[in-house]
Amino acid sequence: MKVFIDRKIPEVGLEKLKAAHIEIEEWTENRELSKDELINYCQQSDAFLSAGSNSLDADFLDQCSHLKVIALHSVGYDRVDIEKATELGIPIGNTPGVLSKATADIAFLLMLSVSRKAIFLHQQIKNDQWHFTQPTDNLGVELEGKILGIFGLGSIGFELARKAKAAFDMKIIYHNRGHNEQAEKELDAKRVSFEDLLSQSDVLSAHAALTTETKGKFDMDTFKKMRKNTIFINTSRGGVHREEDLIAALQQGIIWGAGLDVTNPEPMAADNPLLDMPTVAVFPHIGSQTVETRDQMALMAAENIIAALEGRKIPTCVNKEIYNS
Ligand code: DGY
Repeated sequence: MKVFIDRKIPEVGLEKLKAAHIEIEEWTENRELSKDELINYCQQSDAFLSAGSNSLDADFLDQCSHLKVIALHSVGYDRVDIEKATELGIPIGNTPGVLSKATADIAFLLMLSVSRKAIFLHQQIKNDQWHFTQPTDNLGVELEGKILGIFGLGSIGFELARKAKAAFDMKIIYHNRGHNEQAEKELDAKRVSFEDLLSQSDVLSAHAALTTETKGKFDMDTFKKMRKNTIFINTSRGGVHREEDLIAALQQGIIWGAGLDVTNPEPMAADNPLLDMPTVAVFPHIGSQTVETRDQMALMAAENIIAALEGRKIPTCVNKEIYNS
């Protein structure tokens, strides 16, 4: 049995696959495969461990319908046509849970960096612009006791809320379809309407998956309903906010700042006006980028591959309904 892997994943994942006697073909060049190249490699393999950013659309899946599993090296699965994979009976694995703490760290870092204009001021020193300063120059804002609003409070949002409450005694409000009982019990989080989330949050952090419902959810209309002092944070997917609207909202002082670990498109262009704004911090999608988390992700993806190739249900399956039929 052979697995194709489209990026360099941590050694622990490869070792696990080798111990299960699975042949590995890896793409190790520092460029994304074209769709045709990817199809070609997958057609010669029994399983695909996908750590790249190619869209696994209906056409790709039709051409690779023989695959016994596609194991994503990510928790997000918005680049896969799940309905089509389900129709074809291909289990799609992801890596839930293991990256929640690391991703919440990045949301926390963005919130703090923006509140003190840290990235902008660092850049000024680098550009030889640490000059005379007035006591009123470049003032930040404090987070102590402020309201943190979470859009989509799942495990990453919970970890951010936990840290924010412990560090700054922030009050937690959130907007979800249902209640998050753990957050209500342990963090005294309050579930509010979307409108209230917008109008009450000092920091509003987006954690919802990218779906047709959440695509472009944060646009000029929503930014206008926020407070002038709001810091908007996005560590989920760039498609959840409309970047032109975010730029305009910041330029016009409609909201105060923004911290992004995800952009639209990725990579962000070097001349994007967001990069020159004092109250903006942008990171290159590094939510899960730690040794500990990436090792866990590689192990989980490898376990999904091994289970499928041994004829078992995969442990973390996005489209579990394939096992019902
Ligand atoms: C995830 O796992 O979905 C992270 O955003 C990395 O893509």
